[in-house]
Amino acid sequence: MKATITLLPGDGIGPEIVREARRVLEAIAQRFDHDLLFAEHLIGGCAIDATGQALPEASLAACAQSAGILLGAVGGPKWDDPSAKVRPEQGLLALRKGLDLFANLRPVTVHPALAEASPLKAERLAGVDIMVVRELTSGIYFGTPRFREVVEGVTRAVDTMVYSEDEIRRVVKVAFQIAMGRKRRVCSVDKANVLESSRLWRSVADEVAKDFPEVRLEHQLVDSAAMRLVTSARDFDVIVTGNMFGDILSDEASVLSGSLGLLPSASLGATRLGLYEPIHGSAPDIAGQGIANPLGTILSGAMLLRHSLGLDAEAKAIESAVFSAVQEGCRTRDLGGTLGTAAAGQAVLDRLS
Ligand code: IPM
Ligand code: MG
Repeated sequence: MKATITLLPGDGIGPEIVREARRVLEAIAQRFDHDLLFAEHLIGGCAIDATGQALPEASLAACAQSAGILLGAVGGPKWDDPSAKVRPEQGLLALRKGLDLFANLRPVTVHPALAEASPLKAERLAGVDIMVVRELTSGIYFGTPRFREVVEGVTRAVDTMVYSEDEIRRVVKVAFQIAMGRKRRVCSVDKANVLESSRLWRSVADEVAKDFPEVRLEHQLVDSAAMRLVTSARDFDVIVTGNMFGDILSDEASVLSGSLGLLPSASLGATRLGLYEPIHGSAPDIAGQGIANPLGTILSGAMLLRHSLGLDAEAKAIESAVFSAVQEGCRTRDLGGTLGTAAAGQAVLDRLS
């Protein structure tokens, strides 16, 4: 197969970790006889510096025309001025929205060799295997009106949480489809005891459930879901939730796996084109030092092969190489080890064949 992959290294540790993922993808292409082309483009703070925009038009156009997009991270203290007109994060949000990538898949599993790396008790972690499906292009992240104003000398700010039934239906449907290939359980997370948009979310989820009689749906309020994630994470199979709840819960869930650095994500829409990125951020404190964990990005590359190129065997080959590397002691600093970024990438490469 011949395909072009857009690389968006971005800011902070982004370039270092994307480099390792690219090496792994190139090795896979060679081994399975595919022709993968890579095109690098700007996003985030580096794009603001070069063009004044967080997502230059050329980047969005290149992404839209490619088969899949692999992103490192955006943001950093250099662009953190709260009064700045343009912020790196806007680039990421514009990309998700511009390509209508409404379903964000964030798998969380616990590698048996890393149960000790989590601050949670190891016995609570065995068998944890969760897929968080986060709505990504609506909710409070995108709702309008959104503004700041001064009323009688007092400044106030307004954000709007809005969901239409169509937006809820399409993402909940994705969650049910995924559950069909797993343990057939969906937990829909909301705040229906307070929010009108959550009450709509709940009723639409109930409707979708009727088309999937083999899947068991339960509803849970986000506060108790947050608690259950650290007390009995094993109970979860697929979690589906709105944009902001999903943002928060997926970081929380990552603690189960031992490190944010390990976890990949896929953002999917109605077509095969998807955006793949590790769920961690740009980690400016360690940028440029060659010590960041590239495994979350490498695993995101595997998700790209699976979901955008339909190359499941190739994706599995990467995933099992990562699994073996971790099994055999590949530990970057976030996992209590001393391995650098390139060495961790090499550990995966060595186990590919
Ligand atoms: C994430 C990040 C982003 C989000 C930020 C960088 C805008 O936290 O992908 O989870 O909130 O969606
Ligand atoms: Mg987040």
